Amino acid sequence: MAKIKPDAKGHIEIPPSFYQRRRFDPQTEFWLDEREGDLLLLPRLPDARKLYIEVTTSCNLNCQTCIRHSWSDPNAHMKPSTFQHILDSLDDLPSLERVIFTSFGEPLMNRNLLKMIEEIRKHDLAVTLGTNGVLLTEDVVRELFRLRVDQVVVSIDGGKPETYEDVRGTQLSLILENVNRFNQIKKELGVVKPTLAIEFVAMQSNQGELNDLLELASELNASRLVVSHVLPYTKEMEAEKLYGYGPREPLKTGGWPVKSDVWVRWGLIELPRMFWGAERRCKFVQEKSIVVGWDGNVSPCYAFSHSYKYYAIDGVEKNVERYILGNVNEQSLAEIWMSEEFTRFRSSVRSFHFPSCPDCDLRETCDLRKNNEGCWGHNPSCADCLWAQDIVRCP
Ligand SMILES: C[S@@+](CC[C@H](N)C(=O)[O-])C[C@H]1O[C@@H](n2cnc3c(N)ncnc32)[C@H](O)[C@@H]1O
Ligand code: SF4
Ligand code: SF4
Ligand code: SF4
Repeated sequence: MAKIKPDAKGHIEIPPSFYQRRRFDPQTEFWLDEREGDLLLLPRLPDARKLYIEVTTSCNLNCQTCIRHSWSDPNAHMKPSTFQHILDSLDDLPSLERVIFTSFGEPLMNRNLLKMIEEIRKHDLAVTLGTNGVLLTEDVVRELFRLRVDQVVVSIDGGKPETYEDVRGTQLSLILENVNRFNQIKKELGVVKPTLAIEFVAMQSNQGELNDLLELASELNASRLVVSHVLPYTKEMEAEKLYGYGPREPLKTGGWPVKSDVWVRWGLIELPRMFWGAERRCKFVQEKSIVVGWDGNVSPCYAFSHSYKYYAIDGVEKNVERYILGNVNEQSLAEIWMSEEFTRFRSSVRSFHFPSCPDCDLRETCDLRKNNEGCWGHNPSCADCLWAQDIVRCP
């Protein structure tokens, strides 16, 4: 630690070694904050690395698990003018690496999606597309290859047709046909990108099929099988959860060879944590993410990108209010990212400065908790977040 002594006027100088080590420009501005008596200097840097764009909230499926059963938001596409504001903002975010087109809707329902991807690719950013796979037609897939999309994530919530259909209400064979065609075209073009990942939401009713999913991932040459637990938006979904407050048996793990160009790599299953733990780490904040909703409103993560009801780890019903930190139609992404509120919020999340509601004696009756607030005054509260526990996961 460097010892800093204010001069007679109370000015303090930050040692040059600090700027060198952190590679900051000496002109960098800071927000000065206080927490528990400590002074915090929070740099104002446009260092966002991941941008999630919700191009639509509409969908062609009606999955049992979906948040769409728990909200009253409109079914709407992002306006071209809103997307243009995002594009206009990109040059001010020099550390941006990846744009993820997915959220709480089906991105391919927005007819402008491929044009949007093309515009993002002109900025030389990696693109991930998360989809239910229904609209992965030959034309769409050929465009994804032409645009050199980096990764396509397809949701498959069952290894057996009946189970998949029960959750998703459509035929597994249709999705497999689409993914197989994706692989044929990839072979024909002799390219390695986009890589394929499968996302699986593990529940009581489909956990026995994790083995089938491993086989399917191998057959489909998927490089990742990302397993998440279910975030219970309804009481029925609560009965489906496999995780809990106390220790649970881990899910089955495994791997498979993946052909990629002349190399053979190892495909991996990424499993979620099974029970509540002391470590709380937010992937959205750690990976410096921004989430832009269909209407241009900016949130720090998926969990705060809509208003909805869900059931916490101990079954307490919670009402989450959408947390909006700005709107791209009014401000640039960099301005929103470096704003006082967003900077302070990220700092609170990095040190996880929230109470531990699931351990509190008042957990079942506390109105603050029910409204997703906390008694430490930092609101909204991340105290109950299942993403921060790595119980609910995103690719
Ligand atoms: C909301 S969807 C949006 C993208 C696209 N429509 C799809 O289904 O892949 C994103 C991911 O969330 C998963 N998901 C849906 N409901 C969930 C829940 N209750 N808990 C955890 N993940 C869920 C989906 O299976 C999908 O992999
Ligand atoms: S396909 Fe995705 S967005 Fe649509 S209902 Fe299913 S989980 Fe929700
Ligand atoms: S917000 Fe309520 S439940 Fe959470 S720790 Fe404080 S008093 Fe307990
Ligand atoms: S901890 Fe959870 S609620 Fe908080 S920012 Fe991260 S994902 Fe969002």
